[in-house]
Amino acid sequence: MRLDRFLANQPCYNRQQVRLLLAQQRVRVDHRVTTDPVAQVSQFSRVEVDQLLLQAGRPPRYLMLHKPSGCVSATHDPQHPTVLDLLPDELRDDLHIAGRLDFNTTGLMILTNDGQWSRRLTQPSTKLPKHYLVDTEDDIGAHYVARFQEGFYFAFEDLTTQPAQLDILGPRRARLAIVEGRYHQVKRMFGHFDNKVIGLHRERMGTIRLDPALQPGQFRALTVEEIASV
Ligand code: URA
Repeated sequence: MRLDRFLANQPCYNRQQVRLLLAQQRVRVDHRVTTDPVAQVSQFSRVEVDQLLLQAGRPPRYLMLHKPSGCVSATHDPQHPTVLDLLPDELRDDLHIAGRLDFNTTGLMILTNDGQWSRRLTQPSTKLPKHYLVDTEDDIGAHYVARFQEGFYFAFEDLTTQPAQLDILGPRRARLAIVEGRYHQVKRMFGHFDNKVIGLHRERMGTIRLDPALQPGQFRALTVEEIASV
């Protein structure tokens, strides 16, 4: 949001006062005097007017976690361990999951407190591919490839899935890239052929790959480059 709008949204200032505060160099963003009305402020910015703290800001957090099988992609669950249980208390606060995985799906899970950033990662419109390694109960036919490209009609959502890239790696193993994250999407796509998915592992989201050094249940902070890639 623009700084002048942020200030005018405060109950204590009207627009004229905001212009004056900025011109009088009384506004600080992240400890620096700012006179630019269109400077951008976010939930992470610290904003002060004179000695008055309007917003403390908080550090943005971006983590990658190697999700193990048998844990829920949720922040709370009455029965099962959740992915947040794998993090130390001090890191859990206000994190959300960018792209859920099913209970038994393993692999790359991204957690952040930056909602705008995570929307870019998960929104179908940004067309960021998510890559999965898929193991199936029955053989994967060569004819699957064109069908994944064409898309599948999902009656519940009343939509046709966007073109997906299927690379067959073995009789019952394939790599799949999809740009959406519909409920049970991969399983439902293979379900079209009555072929059950028996193993599912997310390897990559956009250019962010699961770090091979991470064992199931381990996590690390994303690098500056990984964050900027989204
Ligand atoms: N598609 C699925 O069916 N399950 C997942 O966990 C992820 C994608």
